[in-house]
Amino acid sequence: MENVLLVYATMSGNTEAMADLIEKGLTEAGANVDRHEAMDIDADVLNDYSHIILGAYTWGDGDLPDDFMDLYEDMEELDLTGKSFAVFGSGDTSYDHFCGAVDVIEEKVKELGGEMILPSVKIEFNPEGDEEEQLISFGKQFVQIHQQQVG
Ligand SMILES: Cc1cc2nc3c(=O)[nH]c(=O)nc-3n(C[C@H](O)[C@H](O)[C@H](O)COP(=O)(O)O)c2cc1C
Repeated sequence: MENVLLVYATMSGNTEAMADLIEKGLTEAGANVDRHEAMDIDADVLNDYSHIILGAYTWGDGDLPDDFMDLYEDMEELDLTGKSFAVFGSGDTSYDHFCGAVDVIEEKVKELGGEMILPSVKIEFNPEGDEEEQLISFGKQFVQIHQQQVG
């Protein structure tokens, strides 16, 4: 399998902790991972990968955070047809739109032709207990689904 691109935005580290666990699952399933914070890459990096996992915390009122915004806006220029995606993020259930940024990213991926191969994962604050296993498993499944597709 080609390398998996793992891109996320985090402010206080919760989404980064999710990325750590997802990366663990990906590598345990045999994938190589290229990992970046969203503000450090240009959108056209996505053109170089077929397997992409995007993550963000939620800001404002169910909004994308600023540090994911440039990437999001520049994704508009891309055709994501034929690429496999999964999306994750951390939020706070006391807000009206829990993990709204996850929904915003998922919608954009679909609009641009990308295929969501797993249900998105939303976690409150920092992953704990069963959530840690859920995220490791999310990473593993992302690889295994691809392996099933190629036979
Ligand atoms: C100003 C502000 C607005 C927020 N808005 C939302 C929101 O609309 N929905 C939500 O689920 N979480 C919201 N959050 C909570 C963060 O997404 C949450 O604390 C998350 O765990 C931060 O992730 P990080 O540690 O990766 O930065 C907000 C937090 C702040 C400070």
